[in-house]
Amino acid sequence: MLKVSLILLVLSAAAVLADFEPFLDIPFKPVRTSAERIESHGYPSESHYVETEDGYVLNMFRIPHSPKLKNEKKERPVVFIMHGLFSCSDCFLLNGPDNALAYNYVDAGYDVWLGNARGNLYSRKNTKMSINHPYFWRFSWHEIGHYDLPAMIDYVLATTGQEKLHYVGHSQGCTTFFVMGSTRPEYNKKIKTAHMLAPPIFMGNVTEGIILATAPYVGSPGLGAELLQNQVFLPLNQYIQRLLDTACSNQPIMLSYCKTLALMWGGDLGNLNATLLPQVAETHPAGISTNQGIHFIQSYVSNDFRRYDWGPKNNLAFYGTEVPPSYDITKIDANLYLYSGEADGSANVMDIARLPGLLPNMKELYTIPDPTFGHLDFIFANSVKEIINDKVIGISKDYDAKNKF
Ligand SMILES: *[C@@H]1O[C@H](CO)[C@@H](O)[C@H](O)[C@H]1NC(C)=O
Ligand SMILES: *[C@@H]1O[C@H](CO)[C@@H](O)[C@H](O)[C@H]1NC(C)=O
Repeated sequence: MLKVSLILLVLSAAAVLADFEPFLDIPFKPVRTSAERIESHGYPSESHYVETEDGYVLNMFRIPHSPKLKNEKKERPVVFIMHGLFSCSDCFLLNGPDNALAYNYVDAGYDVWLGNARGNLYSRKNTKMSINHPYFWRFSWHEIGHYDLPAMIDYVLATTGQEKLHYVGHSQGCTTFFVMGSTRPEYNKKIKTAHMLAPPIFMGNVTEGIILATAPYVGSPGLGAELLQNQVFLPLNQYIQRLLDTACSNQPIMLSYCKTLALMWGGDLGNLNATLLPQVAETHPAGISTNQGIHFIQSYVSNDFRRYDWGPKNNLAFYGTEVPPSYDITKIDANLYLYSGEADGSANVMDIARLPGLLPNMKELYTIPDPTFGHLDFIFANSVKEIINDKVIGISKDYDAKNKF
C-alpha cells in the first residue's frame, strides 16, 4: 500500500506542478520520439501509421536495415516487437546500439518494427472520436490484442512483402499476443517464432505489491472499478514527462522518484541498468487506460485468463454469460517460446508453469538461470544482451536458415 500511495503522491505533486508549468524555472530537455532516438544512435528510422478497425491510429517505428551490414539492398527477414504496460517503442532502444533488442536484431540482418498500443503517447488518435470522448479510453489489453496487433502485423507484412514475421513481446506484449492467438487464430499462421518475455497470462500467484494492494478495491466489479474504469491512467502529457525527466537527470533528491518509477513495473533495481533511468523517465509511463490495469488485477483475483469483467448484468449483455468467457489458448498454435524469471512478481514462474500443457506448439519454456531475474530485467538488465537478446535472435536466425524465408 505504501508503494501505491507513494506513486499517487508523487504523480499528483507532478500534476499540480505541471498546472503551473509556465511559472516553473526548470530547464526542460527536448522530448525525442523513437525515430529521433534511432537516428541519434546512427541508424536509419521510419515512422508509420496504421488505423485499426475501430479507428485508433497507431504509430509504429522501423529500423529497416543496418549501417554496419550495409544490407539495404539485401532481403531481410522481419521482426515485430511489442512493449509492455506503461511502456512504448522506446523501451527496446534505451539500452543503446550495443545492448538493446531492436539494434541487436537489425545488426543481425533483420528489418525491425516496433509497435505502439492504443492510448500510449504515440497512439493517441481515433478517426471516429476525439480523445475527450468518454469512450476513447474504454479499452483493455483485449482490444490491443484483438484489433491493434492484427492491424500492425498486416501492415508490416503488406509493406515488406513478406508472409510471416518473428514476434517478440514483453509483459503485456505477451498478454496481447495470447489474446490475438486465441480470438483470431488465423494470425498464428503469420508468425515464424513468437517470444514471450515475462508473460502475465494466468496471474493467481502474483506477488507484485501494487496488484495485491489494489485487488480488494478493483479486482471484482463494484464501486472501485466503476469509479476508475474507462479513463486514462497516468497521463503522460509533455509537462509531466519533462518534469520527471529533468528531475530524474538533474536532481539527486528526486532519484527516489526514479526508483519508484522502476518499482512500478515490479522488481527491485538489482540487475537494472541504472544509467538509463533518466531516459526511461523521458518516455515512461507512456499512458494506458485504467481498464488495462484493472483487467490484470481481475486476472489475479479470478486466477483465470478471460475477458474483462463488467459485472454480471453487463457481461450478460456483452458476452451472453454472467461470467466473462475464458480465452481458449489451446488455439494458439504458433511456434511459441516462453521466458520466465524466478524473481518476477508479475509473471510468476508458478503461473507460467500452467501454460505448456495448454499450448499445442510450445517449443521451449526457458527459466532464466539467474534467480534474481525480475520483470523489467527482460528489457533493462545489464546482462540483457547475453541472457535474452542473443538467445531470442539465435532462435530466429535458426528458423530463417532452415526455412529460407
Ligand atoms: C498458482 O500456481 C499453481 C501451479 O501452476 C496453480 O495450480 C494455481 O492455480 C495457481 N494459482 C493459485 C491462486 O494458487
Ligand atoms: C546502459 O544504458 C546506457 C544508457 O542508455 C547504455 O549506453 C549502455 O550500453 C547500457 N548498458 C548495458 C550493459 O546495457
